[in-house]
Amino acid sequence: MTIHIGAQKGEIAETVLMPGDPYRAKWAAETFLQDAKLVNDVRGMLGFTGTWKGNPVTIQGSGMGMPSLSIYANELIRDYGAKTLIRIGSCGGMQDNIKIRDVILAMTATTLSTPSRGILKELNYAPCADWSLLQAAAQAAAAKGTPTHVGVIYSSDVFYDERPDLNEQMVRHGILGVEMEAAELYILAARHKCRALAVLTVSDHLLTGEALPSSERESSFGDMVEIALKAAFPNVE
Ligand code: HPA
Repeated sequence: MTIHIGAQKGEIAETVLMPGDPYRAKWAAETFLQDAKLVNDVRGMLGFTGTWKGNPVTIQGSGMGMPSLSIYANELIRDYGAKTLIRIGSCGGMQDNIKIRDVILAMTATTLSTPSRGILKELNYAPCADWSLLQAAAQAAAAKGTPTHVGVIYSSDVFYDERPDLNEQMVRHGILGVEMEAAELYILAARHKCRALAVLTVSDHLLTGEALPSSERESSFGDMVEIALKAAFPNVE
């Protein structure tokens, strides 16, 4: 047990999928894993461990924002030995060619700041996805026929952003979408020699104001979970 995760040692798999929403962790575990067992409910941040095609997988909620994700990712890595961490989450689209329901694979994540800022200080570190995961996810998405974009995203500290000027520069500089967790996950993975990737479904669009109806959220998010699992286990049929 750790401060924020109630699982016993050995109850967390080396491969962890991390949605922001604990109820999405429950849905994904019940939908995609065999023999999924609840391993954490501290603070309602649900985590489940089961198997996918015979391979152990944990799906653990991260909460919203980098400070919350940082708590769970640190404990998963340092106390439970997680090695592959894949964020599965939603993001806001930021380019004309990106549509609601498309998938974005974050090659890198721009930020204004992360919880690691205290260590990195003035360094403008470029948080970077693990290449083997990114490549396998791109292949899995292509095989599924899911419209997918690979490139730079923005990990924000605010959902209700009041910097339209900054958004304008981000759109101009090719930022594909905005979410609130990936950059810190990539930095922690680099620090602890783990692999990380963020697989994101576009749930709303900053340019058009369009949003995915809540009734469609689960089915659209299914593609993303499958892509993440196939990226983690590329040689499994
Ligand atoms: N902003 C930040 N995070 C998000 C958004 C957004 O518009 N959509 C989904 N996650």
